[in-house]
Amino acid sequence: MKITFYGHNSFGIKIGDTHLLIDPFITGNDLVKDTIDINDLKADFILLTHAHQDHTLDAEAIAKRTGAIIVSNYEIASHYENKGLEVHPMNHGGSWDFEFGKVKYVNAIHTSSFPDGKYGGQPGGFVIESEHKNIYVAGDTALTMDMKLIPMRTQLDLAILPIGDNFTMGVDDAILASDFIECDKVIGCHYDTFGYIEIDHEDAKRKFYEKGKDLMLLDIGESIEL
Ligand code: NI
Ligand code: MN
Repeated sequence: MKITFYGHNSFGIKIGDTHLLIDPFITGNDLVKDTIDINDLKADFILLTHAHQDHTLDAEAIAKRTGAIIVSNYEIASHYENKGLEVHPMNHGGSWDFEFGKVKYVNAIHTSSFPDGKYGGQPGGFVIESEHKNIYVAGDTALTMDMKLIPMRTQLDLAILPIGDNFTMGVDDAILASDFIECDKVIGCHYDTFGYIEIDHEDAKRKFYEKGKDLMLLDIGESIEL
């Protein structure tokens, strides 16, 4: 499993020959748009955690070009299905065995509306189990006790957690989240993109390190192998 960071909450996950793309927000991200071209991104599946523009902006264009299947909650899936795109609707607590592995749509505490105000269902995160590796993509969320449910079913190898504060958990709550999900290996996301969520990288990494945890802050386009 290869995970590549495209800024904010956008990640590519390569599992075998299958390319997943999480929350593509490239053309609207000043930190990314000169480095990453959405026409170069591969996608067989596009997983959307919620409807906010900083998670869905480039989903339609990429799905049209690649024919990728959009996986999200029922309301978001219906939104894209009505545009003629291929979708797989899910809802909270539900799992599905895709060709690349199993995906569960799990709870997040946040809001979810499209840029025009249209209802985007309740926001969520994804637990992805594949190739004997299990990862949790939290999406935008507060720290929530529901995170404690995840390790009851799935032993995680890696978690992608928001750490930017203001709109989501900050670093200190993400450290507690890491305890709740019983996973000490964390990739941070949802930081630095806007003024409200700028963070001190070294301070964040030190706080995780002091709790015996590993916080990775990837450069734009940087990948890790799991
Ligand atoms: Ni959001
Ligand atoms: Mn967001």
